[in-house]
Amino acid sequence: MGKVIVLDHPLIQHKLTYIRDRNTGTKDFRELVDEVSMLMAFEITRDLSLRDETVETPLGETKTQVLDGKKIGLIPILRAGLGMVDGMLNLLPAAKVGHVGLYRDPETLLPTEYYIKLPSDISERELIVLDPMLATGGSANDAIESLKKRGAQNIRLMCLVAAPEGVELIQKQHPDVNIYLAALDEKLNEHGYIYPGLGDAGDRLFGTK
Ligand code: PRP
Ligand code: URA
Repeated sequence: MGKVIVLDHPLIQHKLTYIRDRNTGTKDFRELVDEVSMLMAFEITRDLSLRDETVETPLGETKTQVLDGKKIGLIPILRAGLGMVDGMLNLLPAAKVGHVGLYRDPETLLPTEYYIKLPSDISERELIVLDPMLATGGSANDAIESLKKRGAQNIRLMCLVAAPEGVELIQKQHPDVNIYLAALDEKLNEHGYIYPGLGDAGDRLFGTK
């Protein structure tokens, strides 16, 4: 079964508090999501592999290390996942970015895919699916299925806030996928929103409500 890793770094938790706060406006919300994503990138890349390298410092030769693993691909789920891309790219500037467009029907809560554009070599990349919210898990589940159908082999899922229902679905359907979160919340409410959550991530990021 995939692991669930809650990133409890104090800076992540501090910023998440203001992301949750209903009084935080669009500009600050966007900046905070960007900052938390960068901090999460730092933690999620902790296990990337290194190889030895030799360099000449101004004083002499030394053995040191550089990254040696698979190349990274960032896969934001539109729209709200877009808010996490720049923060990740600050630490992973060479990553390629693929997009999966999904929207959740407000009545049925079922996701519909409306767009997909991926790097051609996703099968060779370590993919990080980005979405601030893992609620029922339907959207992330569909996105991961779509990636696997197109050859993806290594996938991680990174969300700000999750409900237990969403985590369970991904663990059941995709036991090979580890889930990285800033918080695991209490439940889904009767409208399929994460409680206490942070509201509608897309609307808060883009100011559409
Ligand atoms: C939100 C969110 C996730 C999805 C989570 O997107 O960004 O993609 O809902 O819910 P689920 O786990 O129950 O599928 P939404 O469909 O509202 O689209 P948007 O990002 O375009 O606002
Ligand atoms: N989508 C959101 O943006 N927020 C939720 O709480 C659930 C789904």
